[in-house]
Amino acid sequence: MTKYVINGGKTLNGEVTISGAKNAAVAIVPAALLADGPVRIENVPKIIDVTLQLEIMRELGAQIRLVNATTVEIENTKNPSLKPHELERKLRASYYLLGALLGKYGYAEVAMPGGCNFGGVRPIDQHIKGFEALGATVTLPKGGFIRAEAPEGGLTGAHIYFDVVTVGATMNVMLAAVFAKGQTILENCAKEPHIVDLANFLNAMGANVKGAGTDVIKIRGVEKLHGISYSIIPDQIEAGTFMAAVAACGGSVLVKNVIPKHLECITNKLKEMNVEITEFDDAVLVRREGRLTRTNLKTMPYPGFPTDMQPQMTTALCLAEGTSIITEGVWDSRYRYTEELARMGANVHVDGKIAVIEGVSEFKGAPVRAHDLRAGAAMVIAGLAAKGVTEVEQVQNIERGYETLVEKFVALGADMYRSEIPDSMGAAQQA
Ligand code: EPU
Repeated sequence: MTKYVINGGKTLNGEVTISGAKNAAVAIVPAALLADGPVRIENVPKIIDVTLQLEIMRELGAQIRLVNATTVEIENTKNPSLKPHELERKLRASYYLLGALLGKYGYAEVAMPGGCNFGGVRPIDQHIKGFEALGATVTLPKGGFIRAEAPEGGLTGAHIYFDVVTVGATMNVMLAAVFAKGQTILENCAKEPHIVDLANFLNAMGANVKGAGTDVIKIRGVEKLHGISYSIIPDQIEAGTFMAAVAACGGSVLVKNVIPKHLECITNKLKEMNVEITEFDDAVLVRREGRLTRTNLKTMPYPGFPTDMQPQMTTALCLAEGTSIITEGVWDSRYRYTEELARMGANVHVDGKIAVIEGVSEFKGAPVRAHDLRAGAAMVIAGLAAKGVTEVEQVQNIERGYETLVEKFVALGADMYRSEIPDSMGAAQQA
């Protein structure tokens, strides 16, 4: 068992460099399978979700070469064995393999995706609807697999209207449609920066994808894609997490390697909370000295406030003066972590999609769990702001999506370390 031990109560000061975007990388890395020829991807975050994705692709027969810590070269040399893999159950984004393999070979079978479980259901009906509209037959054979098969003659472009705004289905159907005959029109698309990044990546390889970043995406099928070199955008949510940490702990941090435009909704919310933010071309300076002030916040698809920043901002708002109201507008349930915050002295009342926060003046260190990735980031922020020692368990959930989080916070003056406990001792402690 690995845990983070945090001796909180210190302000954060200095500079932090943001890594490549997780939710772009988990789609772009499998999308490399679409190309004939080597694809070099730079600014790849070193996180468990990407490592798993690469391992699955290696097992499928792709050649994977790590050029350096954040650059990988992928060459898809043969039609893969297409056996479903148990590894896929460990990560949500394994479903992008379905779109990429269906697009490339007309057949794909993967284990039903795993990944973050923040309490609610995570359906994939819109992915299936999109594949079927392109002509694929989608079945769910026994054993928790999902299989998609193109008809003889391949997929054909179609007009698809998504019933809900979904990042996963928008990207997955884009992957499947790049070679589909004729034109595919996707409507009610998600507009997140990683959707634009995936479209840019596909277009750089020779695809014809237009409109990414708006709610209508048009794709003209092409014959083949070629190898390229491409750099993934910086992680909006990792940047936001450091910004929320400065809000909670106080101090002054230059958050580098960001696209300030992608951070606008977070920046504006933090300004409402008495956090000073100065924007530069590819960095933001975040400073907080006085007490945080209350605000309300509602999560929405981009360009709304990102759901993946909700736990971190809720945590900061627990320390703000006054009452704040949070509304979760993307997921049915994403507040499980508030029970952990309560152990540290937070006062949050949750009713369905709404959380009402009565600000407290401080947190007290406590043992807490990282129930999922962003909940885990919230626990780290709470621990850094708290008086006394916080031990965060289940940190594998954090390391799925944050690269060297501990090292980055330590460089900002945090007093924290990663503690490895042999499994037998961990189990004894938990019992
Ligand atoms: N939805 C459906 N049907 C579908 C797909 C989604 O009803 O077929 C619903 C969901 O239940 C949800 C909403 O649509 O209410 C949005 O889901 P979306 O498909 O956008 O989520 P996702 O693609 O499964 C990605 C990120 C999540 C992030 C969401 C929303 C990845 C691997 N995951 O999930 O990231 O919360 O978009 O922005 O890209 C995280 O990074 O911590 C994380 C959970």
